[in-house]
Amino acid sequence: MDRILIVEDEEVIRLAVQRLLERHNYNVEVAESVEDAESQYDVNSFKLIITDVRLPGVPGTEIIQKAKDVPVLIMTSYASVRSAVDAMKLGAVDYIAKPFDHDELVLLVKRTLKRGQLERQNEALKSELEKSYPVAGMVGQSPAMQTIFKQIGKVAPTDSTVLILGESGTGKELVARALHNQSNRREAPIVTVNCAAIPESLLESELFGHKKGAFTGADTDRTGLVESADGGTLFLDEIGELSHTAQARLLRVLQNGEIRPVGSERARQVDVRLISATHRDLKQLVQESQFRSDLYFRLRVMELNLPPLRDRGTDIPELAKFLLDKACKKFNKPPISLAPDAIKAISKYDWPGNVRELENAMERAAILCEQDVISTDMLAIDSKEGIVTRQSGNDKQDLSLEEYFCQFVLEHQDQLTETELAKRLGISRKTLWERRQRFGIPKKKPGQSKEDI
Ligand SMILES: Nc1ncnc2c1ncn2[C@@H]1O[C@H](COP(=O)(O)OP(=O)(O)OP(=O)(O)O)[C@@H](O)[C@H]1O
Ligand SMILES: [Mg+2]
Repeated sequence: MDRILIVEDEEVIRLAVQRLLERHNYNVEVAESVEDAESQYDVNSFKLIITDVRLPGVPGTEIIQKAKDVPVLIMTSYASVRSAVDAMKLGAVDYIAKPFDHDELVLLVKRTLKRGQLERQNEALKSELEKSYPVAGMVGQSPAMQTIFKQIGKVAPTDSTVLILGESGTGKELVARALHNQSNRREAPIVTVNCAAIPESLLESELFGHKKGAFTGADTDRTGLVESADGGTLFLDEIGELSHTAQARLLRVLQNGEIRPVGSERARQVDVRLISATHRDLKQLVQESQFRSDLYFRLRVMELNLPPLRDRGTDIPELAKFLLDKACKKFNKPPISLAPDAIKAISKYDWPGNVRELENAMERAAILCEQDVISTDMLAIDSKEGIVTRQSGNDKQDLSLEEYFCQFVLEHQDQLTETELAKRLGISRKTLWERRQRFGIPKKKPGQSKEDI
């Protein structure tokens, strides 16, 4: 039986809440103030604490700090959104405004207890995952991935330059981070530069910095990214997109360990470990003279080839489960499982977008799934065609954002609090309120039933 503490100075309310929860089979203890609670009980021994904010002595929110492991629900006497928001910032899990009806409170209590349990399960899951995977957060029991993990363990502590190759979405960035985190440079920064995302005209000055007046718009001296990685790791993602000039300068960094900012006469010494990655066939680019061969040979002192997901056998369903759990946690949903036919479809599909595509599919399924099992049709995978198709009909993806918003709110407002609704929609409570007004679906006033407190 879950043990709940109620901290409330008004006797009428305290008794009413106590009786209500006892009727629902909770084991309830009461206190009149935070001090009173502490003198009578070990506040960390409860499963849940419900407290008023305004109490004799210190405010009820103080108990959040004192009972660090226990979820705290706040009751506010007046619908004072401010004190509720302040309480949430201090770490309260949710709040309820007085007067509230009995059903509303019981629902909130049930949900909070359930969530606490889920969080503990997730913690357990996380530490279990960390145990079984040598590289934090990377799933891979297949021989190909085991080889990669071994290579990571071997090259990470050395200072050697590493080139990571693999199709899009195979986990290149994750591997770069693992290399840094397992190196002696882990306390220093890893600076990531996506060479494809920076316009070619700016790339050089971003990388190497520039002197004031070197070009129009260069109003001040500026430190480049290479220099800000000094002592740490520089991760050049999508290195296949580097211009010829940038390639030449990068070669100089590798050869002499020095950089020369754009417009500067003087070179400076830097100490960076370089890791680079690309989904392109760099060797081919060298043959086509698009990429300097001398740079290529310097980059690939050590080469890691990430296998495409379709070649990872039983890693595929395991990754699917891992990513689904991750998505449920991210969207605050209870755990969802995959139906056997869904696992079959996932294993058969060839995943051209690799782990990233699988991750997106699991996130999408987690959002749309309203039961606790995901079936094949929810995945929108057409395993025969090997392409992802969109479901027709009233699939939520086909709705405009406004329609989606209204449908989501109407479908869920009876089960979720406003805080949860806002969270699930990824917006603030204020925005939720504003959109409700704008789209003409204002929040229903909870019916003042006989049981109102
Ligand atoms: N083995 C793995 N285990 C768990 N998650 C993974 C694994 N590999 C990749 N991921 C996840 O998949 C997503 C894509 O990985 P990442 O960004 O590292 O791929 P990438 O090869 O750099 O992709 P791109 O070429 O598109 O930049 C990330 O969210 C990452 O956390
Ligand atoms: Mg990447």
